[in-house]
Amino acid sequence: MSKEIEKVLIDEEKIKKRVKEMGKSISEDYKDKNLMLVGVLRGAVIFLADLVREIKIPIKIDFMAVSSYGSSTKTSGVVRILKDLNEDIKGKDVLIVEDIVDTGLTLKYLLKNLKSRKPASLDVCTLLKKKSEQQTSLNVKYCGFEVPDKFLVGYGLDWDEKYRNLPQVCALKPELHIED
Ligand code: IMP
Ligand code: MG
Repeated sequence: MSKEIEKVLIDEEKIKKRVKEMGKSISEDYKDKNLMLVGVLRGAVIFLADLVREIKIPIKIDFMAVSSYGSSTKTSGVVRILKDLNEDIKGKDVLIVEDIVDTGLTLKYLLKNLKSRKPASLDVCTLLKKKSEQQTSLNVKYCGFEVPDKFLVGYGLDWDEKYRNLPQVCALKPELHIED
């Protein structure tokens, strides 16, 4: 493991088991619905790829890319759409798939934006959720793991575009996580 990694927080087995459970719940909850998963690029790609293979009902997949973090590890608070959906979501049951909810700013913006397009339902599925105040107002329907307020990498999560390909969720060494 790299010297920049402090430790493994969630190993491959645990992730696999939890993703399977989440897929099962989603399959049951959306059995007679018109499910459209909206993956948030780029972090959610690994999670989404594993999750959809655990969903046993017909689904559609689309992607959005937003920027909320610069190249450092602190949120900018500014959310910009870099890539919009290809599909119209009007009347569809939309589930936003996120890698991690930290301050909740990105989700808040996405929910507001997508709601205006009149989906039949709009909910959130995230692999990880940090414990922080602002999230309480957001209704996350599916959450894989609650995680401590550390900077995490792996399984899609990056630090300056590095470590997305780690199979586990790991904590970055705290001295590298500089809040300015
Ligand atoms: P929020 O707007 O603060 O909730 O941040 C959401 C986005 O920031 C996530 O979708 C991630 O892309 C990124 N992010 C938040 N926390 C972390 C982390 O610990 N590691 C890597 N990326 C993170
Ligand atoms: Mg993200």
